[in-house]
Amino acid sequence: MTVVDLPTAPYLDPARTVEERVADLLGRMTLPEKVGQMMQFDAREDLEHIVHERHAGSILHTSPEKVLRAAELTAQTRLRIPLLVAEDCIHGHSFWEGATIFPTQLGMASTWDPELVEQVAKATAAEVASTGIHWTFSPVLCIARDLRWGRVNETFGEDPFLIGELASAMVRGYQGDGLDDPDAILATAKHFAGYSETQGGRDASEADISRRKLRSWFLPPFERVAKEGCRTFMLGYQTTDGVPITVNDWLLSDVLRGEWGYTGTLITDWDNVGRMVWEQKVQPDFVHAAAAAVKAGNDMVMTTPGFFSGALEAVERGMLTEADIDQAVARILSLKFRFGLFENPRLPDRERIAAIVARSAHTDLNLEVTRRSLVLLRNDGTLPLAAGTRRIAVVGPLADDAQTQLGDWAGSSGQVDWMPDGHPRAQIATVLDGLRERSGGAVEYARGADILRLSDDPAGTFPDGQPRPPIVVPSDPDEERIAEAVALAERSDVVVAVVGDRIELVGEGRSTATLELIGGQRALLDALAATGTPLVVVLMASKPLILPESVREASVVWVANPGMQGGRAIAELLLGEIEPAGRLPISFARHAGQQPTYYNQIRGQHGDRYADLTQEPAFAFGDGLSYTTVEYHEPEILTPVVSAGDTVRARVTVRNTGTRPAHEVVQVYVRDIVTSVSWADKELKTYRHVDLAPGSQTTVEIELPASDCTIVDAAGRRIVEPGEFELLIGPSSRDEVLRAVSFEIR
Ligand code: NOJ
Repeated sequence: MTVVDLPTAPYLDPARTVEERVADLLGRMTLPEKVGQMMQFDAREDLEHIVHERHAGSILHTSPEKVLRAAELTAQTRLRIPLLVAEDCIHGHSFWEGATIFPTQLGMASTWDPELVEQVAKATAAEVASTGIHWTFSPVLCIARDLRWGRVNETFGEDPFLIGELASAMVRGYQGDGLDDPDAILATAKHFAGYSETQGGRDASEADISRRKLRSWFLPPFERVAKEGCRTFMLGYQTTDGVPITVNDWLLSDVLRGEWGYTGTLITDWDNVGRMVWEQKVQPDFVHAAAAAVKAGNDMVMTTPGFFSGALEAVERGMLTEADIDQAVARILSLKFRFGLFENPRLPDRERIAAIVARSAHTDLNLEVTRRSLVLLRNDGTLPLAAGTRRIAVVGPLADDAQTQLGDWAGSSGQVDWMPDGHPRAQIATVLDGLRERSGGAVEYARGADILRLSDDPAGTFPDGQPRPPIVVPSDPDEERIAEAVALAERSDVVVAVVGDRIELVGEGRSTATLELIGGQRALLDALAATGTPLVVVLMASKPLILPESVREASVVWVANPGMQGGRAIAELLLGEIEPAGRLPISFARHAGQQPTYYNQIRGQHGDRYADLTQEPAFAFGDGLSYTTVEYHEPEILTPVVSAGDTVRARVTVRNTGTRPAHEVVQVYVRDIVTSVSWADKELKTYRHVDLAPGSQTTVEIELPASDCTIVDAAGRRIVEPGEFELLIGPSSRDEVLRAVSFEIR
């Protein structure tokens, strides 16, 4: 190692500009050091090798001990360039034992409340930052369309506008007051772009999607956060039109960095560069793959060890110039300088950890966001439970399954190996815990059914010898368990059945062919329904699932994966201590064969149903009941004719006609009557939250810039087409509950 005179090196002088520091440091780096700076390694590998031999720029999946060890190792290197430490902190500090785990992103989306989501991200950032992690791979801006996809739970649902609202809030929360803020972390907008548009829900399959469709629905949320300063973008795994996103020059250079002027950092997803060689087979070897990835403008390459020698050889063979590498390295170094890492590597801080992680304010916030996320889908009058309800039967495989309740990206969900038992049980309130704690009556429990077991994949190992993940075998209904649950139901005043899915059916590479409840759960619900005891189904499902016919009239609450405070919030809701306030950010199908069921589909098809089934979803985007009734008066348009630069204004009076308070989400959709190209029949454009005391009413003023009433034309331009429009106002996306007023844009 050559000894450099570090203390006087200009790049170490914080008084100099970032540009000067980057130029000085780049000038000192060898080519291997530069290539290593572009690489992110899995910290579970040999740290010394990663830091000393590969000159890593970043690590992920690490513990505080490893962060400290990595910092020690970095201090021994020639140039002492600090590492960026990353982790998937997705709905809380996922893999920090005892951190605050919030509802999943889809659960949070049910609040339709950017302010709450921003607070969640801020709390998460503070917990994460105290533990020496600088960068979270969150939020997900993918649009959930095919419900069979295993990663629906990670999204904010199906609507691009709502996704943009919530993602923007989450980025603000993570990134706080800027790069100087010690409680802030770097956010990542992922997975850019179109990853969710799978073939049949199969994870990371070719996304068959045109540039116009991307511009119409998939790109707008990303454009918003790019322009609002989200520091990093992660590229999806998939190919589109034959080209892996990792090397999609149009998307990365023309659109993201060109049109949107994005100056942040691009990171690939896990081994995207390697996948071009061994999975997608569009590059013959790592030399070509590395060259293509650098040329396309990637800055950080996640977990592709072969990139190191590949990129070096690509330069040697003239397929890349050192200047190509310099561009990426300069962007990474700028981020590190701006983040102040050279002055303060933001190491784990025991005192801050003790004071911040799972602090009571975060627990309170978690309870609040969970309360707001619960969606009452149907109520046969059983809810809220009558004051005199004495005997409550709590039944079902998820009624007391603390870790499953946390969902994917939490503790024992499979991504890391240091928390096999998940998060501390004492920090998690299950539905059984919640009802035992809060109801004055006798609460008895019967599991009633199992969901699944795992079995070896009969296909054996992958061609490269790697083990295949086990496959899911649905459990058979268990007559004894069902009989026990039925006996309990028969001696109870009400049954609360907690059913849904488990982690083995959720996540990367774990899409499902069916959307039905699996295992013994359907038989259990059939048997419980047959007892005649009032039944409440708590659907604890990572994504919209289909309930059996036997419970088609029962009360249903969808709770997603509600996080650590789930059971407490659910008990409060069932007992009527709080009001239902959540609204669906995603539509529920009646049958998997109806896919896709999202509300903002393109107009035009023969008829409007299948020969054997309606196309209507079971529950639509925006649906969600309260314990009262809310009446919408006829809306009034205040600006019947506007020009494209004006604001469309309308008002609507909403009245609580029942006897309990309402938290109403007044939804405003726009319908463009005639468009030059086919377009969605209606699109959410804005919404207002209103609290209404029983018997009270309020007039909601609606303002919408006419410039938001756009379509994407045949040439791919986003434009306002003058003509007739409708503003559709109501409590859900369903036509039958929306009231329309017309306006014209001239
Ligand atoms: C792969 C996932 O697709 C991505 O979302 C995640 O951030 C990375 N792995 C890192 O764990």
